[in-house]
Amino acid sequence: MATTTNDPMAASTRRWIVTGASRGLGRAIAARAASQGDRVCLVARSPAVTDAAAEIGGDTFGLAADVTSAEDLQRIAATVSERWGGIDVLVNNAGLHRGGKVDALAVADWEASLATNLSGPLHAVRAILPHMGAGSTIVNIGAVVGFRGFPGDSCYGASKAGLAGLTQVLATELAKQQIRVNMVIPGFVATEMTAGVSERARASIVAKIPLRRMGTAEEIADVCWWVSGATYMTGSVIFTDGGLMCNL
Ligand SMILES: NC(=O)c1ccc[n+]([C@@H]2O[C@H](COP(=O)([O-])OP(=O)(O)OC[C@H]3O[C@@H](n4cnc5c(N)ncnc54)[C@H](OP(=O)(O)O)[C@@H]3O)[C@@H](O)[C@H]2O)c1
Repeated sequence: MATTTNDPMAASTRRWIVTGASRGLGRAIAARAASQGDRVCLVARSPAVTDAAAEIGGDTFGLAADVTSAEDLQRIAATVSERWGGIDVLVNNAGLHRGGKVDALAVADWEASLATNLSGPLHAVRAILPHMGAGSTIVNIGAVVGFRGFPGDSCYGASKAGLAGLTQVLATELAKQQIRVNMVIPGFVATEMTAGVSERARASIVAKIPLRRMGTAEEIADVCWWVSGATYMTGSVIFTDGGLMCNL
């Protein structure tokens, strides 16, 4: 079937950009979409993103870019649109975690957290929107810490709370273009981001999760896939956390 620019309903497959896809959740989200036959551009800073795309296979490719750079995201949007004629799904997944109690945290960590976790998604949306048509969708990846206070998580919590606010504003602004914007909240998932959590801290977090285990990247990817196709959902926050939020 021929693909019409900016018309996802006319496209035989959807065209995705997933940021932070060199590993972890982003890679699993990209793999899930590719396994359904969709086309996916994987984005991250390291060259590993190209390897990730090659390993996933299908109609995927990797591009190196830093989401803190608006120019990088303009380049990504232009490259993908030129290749596929438009973009149907943006997943703002790239993120970093920096800790530190408020009196001790490094200002550089605060700034890096906001630049990556909050400004990054804004740059991505602004770059990609001109290439999106009615029926397109944006999925932002949030965190429980954006909704509940965890000591030592000012940088991360503030950046993810900001992203939750941005999600709601975008949902209202972009609805007239029939572009949906939602936020998926992973609970506690085994990835490189959580690999440094001590056994003791890990056990104490798992003890608060009603399902009594960490989630898998594939479980989060399944939800992102479903949300991307939920045509009457916008401005929603979808907790995928084994019940953690109910227990805090
Ligand atoms: N794991 C969890 O338990 C958990 C819980 C709640 C929310 N989350 C959220 O889920 C998302 C994915 O986390 P994860 O656990 O998969 O983390 P991860 O394993 O550390 O992966 C982070 C990804 O983001 C990319 N990235 C980081 N900074 C970037 C930048 N400036 N520009 C482009 N790409 C960048 C990394 O690739 P490069 O280093 O190659 O750039 C990597 O692909 C994050 O937004 C995180 O906050 C995770």
